Amino acid sequence: MTRICDYEGSRYRKEFWESGNRQYEDMAERIALAKMLPPTGKRLIEVGAGFGRMADMYKGYEQVVLLDYARTQLEEAQRYLGQDNRFIFVVADVYQLPFVSHLFDALVMIRVMHHLVDAPAALSELKRIISPDGAAIIEYASKRHLKAILRWLLRRQEWNPFNPEPHEFVELNIDFHPAWMRQQFTAANFDIQEIRSLSHFRLPLLKKFFPPQFLAALDGWAQPTGRWWQYTPSIFVKAAPQKKTADIVTGFFKCPACHNHTLKKTENALFCPSCQRHWEYRDGIYDFRTPA
Ligand SMILES: C[S@@+](CC[C@H](N)C(=O)[O-])C[C@H]1O[C@@H](n2cnc3c(N)ncnc32)[C@H](O)[C@@H]1O
Ligand SMILES: [Zn+2]
Repeated sequence: MTRICDYEGSRYRKEFWESGNRQYEDMAERIALAKMLPPTGKRLIEVGAGFGRMADMYKGYEQVVLLDYARTQLEEAQRYLGQDNRFIFVVADVYQLPFVSHLFDALVMIRVMHHLVDAPAALSELKRIISPDGAAIIEYASKRHLKAILRWLLRRQEWNPFNPEPHEFVELNIDFHPAWMRQQFTAANFDIQEIRSLSHFRLPLLKKFFPPQFLAALDGWAQPTGRWWQYTPSIFVKAAPQKKTADIVTGFFKCPACHNHTLKKTENALFCPSCQRHWEYRDGIYDFRTPA
């Protein structure tokens, strides 16, 4: 089985965002997403949505699926976002998404790729669920950023940031080379439409002396240079499926175990008549991680 970075029970929102002095990064990501995401559409999915940090940016979408491997992250998202019938909460694994193909007009995945040991498999599964006219905004962490290059040149770091292979610097935390990543998008039959480089100013000293709004505005101004070169720690890619035709989509969920499209809704589950599994539905969350 593929190794997975499990956030079950983690205090990600509190520890990483609220006490982590990361307003600048949050604002810079919002600028990029606002520029890249089509403002309106029918159905959007965020994969690895965590506590729904970005969900307020999906107001133009009629239906929004927030998917995460960790149920407790989605429970936090329910508290964070309050009651809104547009949201559907789904526990599942990016490698086995429980949806029929071509279901979504838009897909967002931010700060998740760096936890994925099999990026090619994930990209191909993401591509499968997007409509032929849809768009995916996918962020990844880059190994070829200025700080890493400098450290390597000064012999303070052993690994070479120009080596194209992914670099797992801590278990299940992986940085990617932009050229390697471009190849994986193409191999998954994605066309890259736009690239933005983010977090030019992710330096403690700058963050200490300048307000996050100011640094984020500067970053937003510099982000489009990602089209020509990428030397920052975070890269946003807007990609669209290469093939523009597809069968008409019918259905919504599919069984992640046997791929059957006709799940039957019971009071507390979706039942798969083909493999006899029950996928639990409890307190507003569909769970496709472990059959009930
Ligand atoms: C660093 S958090 C990012 C959360 C959110 N995207 C954000 O930017 O605030 C990474 C999230 O990816 C989820 N994740 C990791 N591996 C996953 C997988 N295989 N399938 C689905 N979600 C996964 C984790 O549970 C976690 O909530
Ligand atoms: Zn099944």
